[in-house]
Amino acid sequence: MCQETKVGIIGLGSYLPKRVLTNQDLEKMVDTTDEWIVTRTGIHERHIARPDEATSDMAVEAAKQALADAGLKAEDIDLIIVATITPDMFFPSTACLVQHKLGCRHVPAFDISVACSGFVYGIAIANQFISSGVYRHALVIGAEKLSSVTDWSDRGTCVLFGDGAGAAVLGPVNSGGIVSVYLGADGSKGDLLNLPAGGSKLPASKKTVEDKLHFIKMNGAELFKHAVKIMADAALEATKPLNLKAKDIDLVIPHQANLRILMAVAKRMGLSEDKIYLNIDKYGNMSAASSAIALADAVKEGRIKKGNKILLDAFGGGLTWGAIVIEW
Ligand code: ACO
Repeated sequence: MCQETKVGIIGLGSYLPKRVLTNQDLEKMVDTTDEWIVTRTGIHERHIARPDEATSDMAVEAAKQALADAGLKAEDIDLIIVATITPDMFFPSTACLVQHKLGCRHVPAFDISVACSGFVYGIAIANQFISSGVYRHALVIGAEKLSSVTDWSDRGTCVLFGDGAGAAVLGPVNSGGIVSVYLGADGSKGDLLNLPAGGSKLPASKKTVEDKLHFIKMNGAELFKHAVKIMADAALEATKPLNLKAKDIDLVIPHQANLRILMAVAKRMGLSEDKIYLNIDKYGNMSAASSAIALADAVKEGRIKKGNKILLDAFGGGLTWGAIVIEW
């Protein structure tokens, strides 16, 4: 009988652009206040990429760190997945650009468009390829330059987003690793968060630019309600097959959408708030990069120890969602 390989995260890295945009800076750009942003979202500041810094550039920096952390070289990677909704361009994929810039072999490389759940989906896909023995080492990157699709005159969205990249190297492990995966999507609610123009439905034109249709559009209040229920339900679905109770989870690494959403999820799950890892205050919502960077930061800060059970829990546009239990 074929024995499935146990798969774990064996290296992590992150990259944040140098420029920091504070709430006080935003007060000078739109009709908002530091107090409103902090109380409604938990965000104090976010990082913004340089105009000449593309998503692939940030992805490569995070990937280099993850490779070094894993003790591997670019040529050891067998598969590259980049989760992003802000690729450098429509095609070639950002993953192909990353493959070339890193100097990887001619291994499969592709992007996935899963919004904020992208990193979790990427881990789930890579897990399949490695556990089945097809590949040995995969690079999964969540990278976003959301500042490039943010309407800086819309106070309802521009205060929320930031830029960055996080990367993980997955490979075989002797014990623990990924023990449960749960993914889902609901396309009927796609209009709650989208970027309407530039695709085949509304190709770029003078009118789409004038109508600001190349920026993120969001129904924040509706998303808020769905996010809380979906993240709590996804956590339950991922932990149920393992008979895990909330108290058995050592740390939740959630997509950093909004502090109030995350506190409501903790309450719904019956988890104490200190079991929810937070870094939204420093970075805002970086879509697919958020959970990748949160995981890298949590490990760096010593919040995750060997043997801990951690839960990745994400929700995003699509709608999409995913939860993964990892024994560290
Ligand atoms: N500064 C000051 N006032 C503001 C701002 C701002 N930046 N933005 C909105 N307001 C105003 C509104 O105009 C409104 O004013 P009105 O009552 O006079 O009409 C008032 O504040 C309340 O607006 P709401 O949208 O109802 O505020 P809410 O409490 O819902 O908070 C927020 C808005 C923060 C966007 C919240 O709905 C939210 O976080 N939703 C989830 C968003 C999210 O998570 N998106 C991403 C998920 S998926 C992904 O990560 C890609």
